[in-house]
Amino acid sequence: MSGTSSFTCQQERLKKLKSEHGKVQLGNITVDMVKMPSAIPVLGGMRGMTGLLWETSLLDPEEGIRFRGLSIPECQKLLPAAKHAGEPLPEGLLWLLLTGKVPTKGQVDALSKELQSRAAVPDHVFKAIDALPVSAHPMTQLATGVLALQVQSEFQKAYDKGIPKSKYWEPTYEDSLSLIAQVPVVGAYVYRRIYKNGQTIPKDDSLDYGANFSHMLGFDSPEMHELMRLYVTIHSDHEGGNVSAHTGHLVASALSDPYLSFAAALNGLAGPLHGLANQEVLLWIKSVVDECGENMTKEQLKDYVWKTLKSGKVVPGFGHGVLRKTDPRYMCQREFALKHLPDDPLFRLVSKLYEVVPPILTELGKVKNPWPNVDAHSGVLLNHYGLTEARYYTVLFGVSRSIGICSQLIWDRALGLALERPKSVTMEWLENYCKKSA
Ligand SMILES: CC(C)(COP(=O)(O)OP(=O)(O)OC[C@H]1O[C@@H](n2cnc3c(N)ncnc32)[C@H](O)[C@@H]1OP(=O)(O)O)[C@@H](O)C(=O)NCCC(=O)NCCS
Repeated sequence: MSGTSSFTCQQERLKKLKSEHGKVQLGNITVDMVKMPSAIPVLGGMRGMTGLLWETSLLDPEEGIRFRGLSIPECQKLLPAAKHAGEPLPEGLLWLLLTGKVPTKGQVDALSKELQSRAAVPDHVFKAIDALPVSAHPMTQLATGVLALQVQSEFQKAYDKGIPKSKYWEPTYEDSLSLIAQVPVVGAYVYRRIYKNGQTIPKDDSLDYGANFSHMLGFDSPEMHELMRLYVTIHSDHEGGNVSAHTGHLVASALSDPYLSFAAALNGLAGPLHGLANQEVLLWIKSVVDECGENMTKEQLKDYVWKTLKSGKVVPGFGHGVLRKTDPRYMCQREFALKHLPDDPLFRLVSKLYEVVPPILTELGKVKNPWPNVDAHSGVLLNHYGLTEARYYTVLFGVSRSIGICSQLIWDRALGLALERPKSVTMEWLENYCKKSA
């Protein structure tokens, strides 16, 4: 997958863009974007400010994510699968994100082998995780493992030896591929350590990336392998502004290596408004069942949703910072459920929530997107196949995100992107500025 000529071409494209259109305005920044009116004034979180270059994917508020121009249904159709009409292989998506091209099955198989050859994890990584109490959150254990992998960074070694800027992408590529290969091993170790008395399962080199991850976790049914391929593919990337992707990109802009950058990204993913929402959704759904039973009426469900909102909590799995329609990642998981587990009681509950929650959130009057997101669905699928430990779910998200974040990190270095350093101001500065502009 040699990329030097493709990199040169993209570098030239970026240079031309800058020299010919460097002064074209991308939008206006208003005080509202920095500080929005609300019961308790909160920072607006830079919504709607265009400020990042992210080549691997683009999120349309109405249509959802496109990976290098391909929607999720297009990826399902075009990317190679393990079996006829099966779910896309995550290695195929990695190829697509890195090169912008749809790979052949042969290319995907070669990439699978390449990842397998890099998957061995040094013993000190497991020792670092073992130093934590077993009760530590699975995301804390995963991030610790990733940080411990950092000692092998090729980028750091090359930088220490004075590698020229034009070659930064090469050791970044080496680290990224190794990290993507190793992170499922670390993730599976965390799962087996916490929930299976530390009895680990060795990797199986006859399996592809998604199936092997499922195997190391202890789930070997062909349907679970398919689910894992789909899961990893759709969770891999969601453009650059979300907390984990942006954190990885920001930290890497200081020329921190991919391990340091990705460990930081994982810490952002571990927040309940971001990746932890998948854990929250299943726990919340189970609490609904505990209170109302499996065959609850829509009225009971509505009451429970209102009760959650009135206690000051959000309804997990609904809403999004950018999307304004049902998340296509939700829809493809729904299609998977309709095909493989239409009678699962929790899936039926998720379907009922799809009818009940959006009108309630709309009635609140402040929620910009009342529709379900990716996290509203993933837990019930995993739960169906026996992966019932909700606290672990964000680790699956984290493993998947290595593919998107690391692909972009390679492009960051190839394009020579700058150190990120936006301007911040104080409240007093904003007040004075507004007075002067009035
Ligand atoms: C994803 C999320 C963090 C996006 O936040 P956002 O961009 O600030 O969303 P909005 O602009 O629509 O928020 C406006 C208001 O609606 C509220 N809101 C948004 N989604 C909500 C939900 N699912 N339940 C209850 N209230 C919600 C916000 O908390 C905010 O209230 P505030 O003004 O009192 O602070 C938010 O929708 C959320 O908390 N969802 C639940 C958690 C979740 O599923 N996260 C996974 C995302 S993939």
